[in-house]
Amino acid sequence: MTDKKVPLAQRHAQANYWFNFKRDPSSVEPSPEDIKCELQLQALSDFERLKFDIDYDEFKKQMKPYEDSWVPYLQREGLSNPRQGLCLFGLPGDSCTDSLSLPEARIRTGNKKLHELDFNTPTQLYKDLTCLHELVGYWNPLGRSMLVKTNEGGYFPPHKDHPLLNRSCFRVIAFIGHHVDHEAYEWEMNGRVWRIKQNASYYVDTRKTHRTHSWQNDSIHLIMNVPKTWENVMKLMAVTKNF
Ligand SMILES: [Fe+2]
Repeated sequence: MTDKKVPLAQRHAQANYWFNFKRDPSSVEPSPEDIKCELQLQALSDFERLKFDIDYDEFKKQMKPYEDSWVPYLQREGLSNPRQGLCLFGLPGDSCTDSLSLPEARIRTGNKKLHELDFNTPTQLYKDLTCLHELVGYWNPLGRSMLVKTNEGGYFPPHKDHPLLNRSCFRVIAFIGHHVDHEAYEWEMNGRVWRIKQNASYYVDTRKTHRTHSWQNDSIHLIMNVPKTWENVMKLMAVTKNF
Protein backbone atom coordinates (compact mmCIF):
# COMPACT_ATOMS: atom_id res chain seq x y z
CA MET A 1 0.00 0.00 0.00
CA THR A 2 1.23 3.47 -0.81
CA ASP A 3 1.50 5.81 2.18
CA LYS A 4 -0.61 8.87 1.37
CA LYS A 5 1.99 11.08 3.05
CA VAL A 6 4.58 10.04 0.49
CA PRO A 7 4.22 12.30 -2.55
CA LEU A 8 3.71 10.24 -5.69
CA ALA A 9 5.84 10.70 -8.76
CA GLN A 10 4.02 12.62 -11.45
CA ARG A 11 2.88 9.50 -13.27
CA HIS A 12 -0.09 9.06 -10.94
CA ALA A 13 -2.11 11.66 -12.79
CA GLN A 14 -1.99 12.94 -16.35
CA ALA A 15 -1.59 16.71 -16.47
CA ASN A 16 -4.87 17.71 -18.10
CA TYR A 17 -3.86 20.55 -20.38
CA TRP A 18 -7.21 20.46 -22.22
CA PHE A 19 -9.12 20.81 -18.94
CA ASN A 20 -6.83 23.69 -17.97
CA PHE A 21 -7.44 25.30 -21.37
CA LYS A 22 -11.23 25.12 -20.92
CA ARG A 23 -11.07 26.37 -17.32
CA ASP A 24 -8.65 29.22 -18.01
CA PRO A 25 -7.31 29.59 -21.58
CA SER A 26 -4.65 32.04 -20.39
CA SER A 27 -3.06 29.28 -18.25
CA VAL A 28 -1.80 27.48 -21.35
CA GLU A 29 -1.40 30.44 -23.73
CA PRO A 30 2.16 31.21 -24.90
CA SER A 31 3.18 34.87 -25.02
CA PRO A 32 5.11 36.31 -27.98
CA GLU A 33 8.21 36.09 -25.74
CA ASP A 34 7.51 32.38 -25.08
CA ILE A 35 7.25 31.68 -28.81
CA LYS A 36 10.42 33.62 -29.56
CA CYS A 37 12.38 31.82 -26.81
CA GLU A 38 11.06 28.34 -27.66
CA LEU A 39 11.78 28.74 -31.38
CA GLN A 40 15.36 29.70 -30.61
CA LEU A 41 15.77 26.84 -28.09
CA GLN A 42 14.38 24.46 -30.71
CA ALA A 43 17.41 25.30 -32.86
CA LEU A 44 19.66 23.61 -30.30
CA SER A 45 20.30 19.90 -29.94
CA ASP A 46 18.23 17.95 -27.41
CA PHE A 47 21.55 17.70 -25.51
CA GLU A 48 23.64 20.82 -26.20
CA ARG A 49 27.06 20.81 -24.54
CA LEU A 50 27.98 24.03 -22.73
CA LYS A 51 31.42 25.47 -22.03
CA PHE A 52 31.26 24.95 -18.27
CA ASP A 53 32.91 21.84 -16.81
CA ILE A 54 32.95 20.80 -13.13
CA ASP A 55 36.14 20.18 -11.15
CA TYR A 56 35.18 16.82 -9.59
CA ASP A 57 38.12 16.68 -7.14
CA GLU A 58 37.10 20.06 -5.76
CA PHE A 59 33.43 19.01 -5.69
CA LYS A 60 34.28 15.88 -3.65
CA LYS A 61 36.28 17.96 -1.17
CA GLN A 62 33.53 20.55 -0.74
CA MET A 63 30.81 17.87 -0.43
CA LYS A 64 32.66 16.06 2.38
CA PRO A 65 30.69 17.74 5.25
CA TYR A 66 27.41 16.86 3.48
CA GLU A 67 28.21 13.19 2.78
CA ASP A 68 25.52 11.97 5.17
CA SER A 69 22.97 14.68 4.40
CA TRP A 70 21.45 13.20 1.22
CA VAL A 71 17.69 12.70 1.59
CA PRO A 72 15.42 10.31 -0.34
CA TYR A 73 14.02 11.84 -3.51
CA LEU A 74 10.30 11.13 -4.08
CA GLN A 75 10.46 7.64 -2.62
CA ARG A 76 7.40 5.43 -2.91
CA GLU A 77 6.78 2.83 -0.26
CA GLY A 78 7.21 -0.71 -1.53
CA LEU A 79 9.17 0.42 -4.56
CA SER A 80 12.95 0.24 -4.69
CA ASN A 81 14.36 3.30 -6.39
CA PRO A 82 17.64 4.43 -4.81
CA ARG A 83 17.73 8.14 -5.59
CA GLN A 84 18.47 11.04 -3.27
CA GLY A 85 18.73 14.80 -3.42
CA LEU A 86 20.06 17.99 -1.88
CA CYS A 87 18.61 21.45 -2.47
CA LEU A 88 20.75 24.29 -3.86
CA PHE A 89 18.05 26.92 -4.55
CA GLY A 90 14.85 26.63 -2.55
CA LEU A 91 12.28 28.68 -0.68
CA PRO A 92 13.45 31.35 1.80
CA GLY A 93 14.67 29.57 4.95
CA ASP A 94 15.13 26.21 3.24
CA SER A 95 18.02 23.99 4.21
CA CYS A 96 19.64 21.64 1.72
CA THR A 97 17.24 18.88 2.75
CA ASP A 98 14.08 20.84 1.80
CA SER A 99 12.21 21.52 -1.46
CA LEU A 100 13.59 18.62 -3.42
CA SER A 101 10.47 18.32 -5.50
CA LEU A 102 7.44 20.47 -6.26
CA PRO A 103 4.96 17.92 -4.82
CA GLU A 104 6.93 17.70 -1.56
CA ALA A 105 7.21 21.49 -1.22
CA ARG A 106 3.53 22.04 -2.07
CA ILE A 107 2.47 19.55 0.61
CA ARG A 108 4.92 20.95 3.19
CA THR A 109 3.91 24.60 2.69
CA GLY A 110 0.22 24.01 1.89
CA ASN A 111 0.67 26.25 -1.17
CA LYS A 112 -0.49 24.34 -4.24
CA LYS A 113 0.48 27.19 -6.54
CA LEU A 114 4.20 27.12 -5.82
CA HIS A 115 6.18 27.28 -9.03
CA GLU A 116 9.79 26.68 -10.02
CA LEU A 117 10.65 30.40 -9.91
CA ASP A 118 9.50 30.68 -6.26
CA PHE A 119 12.52 28.58 -5.25
CA ASN A 120 15.09 31.31 -5.76
CA THR A 121 16.97 31.38 -2.45
CA PRO A 122 20.44 29.79 -2.22
CA THR A 123 20.97 27.27 0.58
CA GLN A 124 24.12 27.09 2.70
CA LEU A 125 25.12 24.06 0.63
CA TYR A 126 25.11 26.15 -2.53
CA LYS A 127 27.22 28.83 -0.82
CA ASP A 128 29.73 26.16 0.26
CA LEU A 129 29.98 24.53 -3.18
CA THR A 130 32.06 27.26 -4.74
CA CYS A 131 33.20 24.81 -7.44
CA LEU A 132 29.70 25.17 -8.94
CA HIS A 133 29.52 28.95 -8.80
CA GLU A 134 30.94 29.67 -12.25
CA LEU A 135 28.20 27.58 -13.88
CA VAL A 136 25.30 28.21 -11.49
CA GLY A 137 26.13 31.87 -10.82
CA TYR A 138 26.11 32.57 -14.58
CA TRP A 139 22.30 32.27 -14.52
CA ASN A 140 21.60 34.14 -11.31
CA PRO A 141 18.71 34.48 -10.41
CA LEU A 142 17.69 30.83 -10.69
CA GLY A 143 14.58 28.78 -10.01
CA ARG A 144 14.45 25.49 -8.07
CA SER A 145 17.83 23.82 -8.43
CA MET A 146 19.27 20.73 -6.79
CA LEU A 147 21.69 17.86 -6.77
CA VAL A 148 20.20 14.45 -7.46
CA LYS A 149 22.17 11.27 -6.81
CA THR A 150 21.07 7.92 -8.17
CA ASN A 151 22.62 4.63 -7.16
CA GLU A 152 22.62 1.32 -9.02
CA GLY A 153 19.05 0.59 -10.11
CA GLY A 154 17.84 4.16 -9.55
CA TYR A 155 15.64 5.55 -12.29
CA PHE A 156 13.18 8.17 -13.42
CA PRO A 157 10.31 6.67 -15.41
CA PRO A 158 9.32 8.18 -18.80
CA HIS A 159 8.02 11.73 -18.32
CA LYS A 160 8.13 15.27 -19.64
CA ASP A 161 9.16 18.36 -17.64
CA HIS A 162 6.90 21.35 -18.40
CA PRO A 163 6.21 20.55 -22.07
CA LEU A 164 4.00 23.59 -22.84
CA LEU A 165 5.38 26.56 -24.77
CA ASN A 166 4.58 28.80 -21.82
CA ARG A 167 6.95 26.98 -19.44
CA SER A 168 8.65 29.47 -17.13
CA CYS A 169 12.09 27.80 -17.08
CA PHE A 170 14.42 25.72 -19.21
CA ARG A 171 16.81 23.09 -17.85
CA VAL A 172 20.59 23.20 -17.66
CA ILE A 173 22.12 20.03 -16.23
CA ALA A 174 25.66 19.06 -15.21
CA PHE A 175 26.61 15.39 -14.80
CA ILE A 176 29.08 15.06 -11.93
CA GLY A 177 31.45 12.22 -11.02
CA HIS A 178 32.74 9.09 -12.71
CA HIS A 179 29.40 7.28 -13.00
CA VAL A 180 27.44 9.59 -15.24
CA ASP A 181 28.50 8.70 -18.76
CA HIS A 182 26.23 6.66 -21.02
CA GLU A 183 27.80 3.35 -19.92
CA ALA A 184 27.05 3.94 -16.22
CA TYR A 185 23.91 6.04 -16.57
CA GLU A 186 21.41 6.07 -19.41
CA TRP A 187 19.37 9.11 -20.41
CA GLU A 188 16.99 7.90 -23.09
CA MET A 189 15.17 10.53 -25.12
CA ASN A 190 13.89 10.61 -28.69
CA GLY A 191 14.57 6.90 -29.11
CA ARG A 192 18.26 7.04 -28.24
CA VAL A 193 20.58 6.90 -25.26
CA TRP A 194 22.52 10.17 -25.27
CA ARG A 195 26.29 10.15 -24.95
CA ILE A 196 27.09 12.11 -21.82
CA LYS A 197 30.55 13.33 -20.87
CA GLN A 198 31.62 13.18 -17.23
CA ASN A 199 31.63 16.50 -15.36
CA ALA A 200 30.21 18.38 -18.34
CA SER A 201 27.16 20.65 -18.54
CA TYR A 202 24.36 20.71 -21.10
CA TYR A 203 21.17 22.45 -22.10
CA VAL A 204 18.70 19.54 -22.14
CA ASP A 205 15.33 19.74 -23.89
CA THR A 206 13.37 18.14 -21.07
CA ARG A 207 10.05 18.99 -22.79
CA LYS A 208 10.61 15.75 -24.71
CA THR A 209 9.72 12.41 -23.12
CA HIS A 210 12.78 11.07 -21.33
CA ARG A 211 13.69 8.33 -18.87
CA THR A 212 16.90 7.62 -16.95
CA HIS A 213 18.51 4.58 -15.37
CA SER A 214 21.67 4.16 -13.29
CA TRP A 215 23.84 1.06 -13.56
CA GLN A 216 26.38 2.31 -10.99
CA ASN A 217 26.32 4.07 -7.62
CA ASP A 218 27.02 7.76 -7.11
CA SER A 219 25.67 9.17 -10.33
CA ILE A 220 25.26 12.86 -9.45
CA HIS A 221 23.28 15.38 -11.47
CA LEU A 222 23.06 19.12 -10.95
CA ILE A 223 19.60 20.17 -12.15
CA MET A 224 18.99 23.87 -12.74
CA ASN A 225 15.74 25.60 -13.65
CA VAL A 226 16.82 28.70 -15.56
CA PRO A 227 14.15 31.43 -15.90
CA LYS A 228 13.08 31.47 -19.56
CA THR A 229 13.70 35.02 -20.70
CA TRP A 230 15.01 36.17 -24.07
CA GLU A 231 18.13 37.44 -22.30
CA ASN A 232 18.77 34.02 -20.72
CA VAL A 233 18.23 32.32 -24.09
CA MET A 234 20.90 34.64 -25.53
CA LYS A 235 23.16 33.88 -22.53
CA LEU A 236 22.69 30.18 -23.28
CA MET A 237 23.52 30.66 -26.96
CA ALA A 238 26.68 32.49 -25.88
CA VAL A 239 28.06 29.51 -23.91
CA THR A 240 27.41 26.51 -26.18
CA LYS A 241 30.68 24.60 -26.58
CA ASN A 242 30.18 24.43 -30.33
CA PHE A 243 29.14 27.56 -32.20
FE1 LIG B 1 12.87 15.06 -16.09
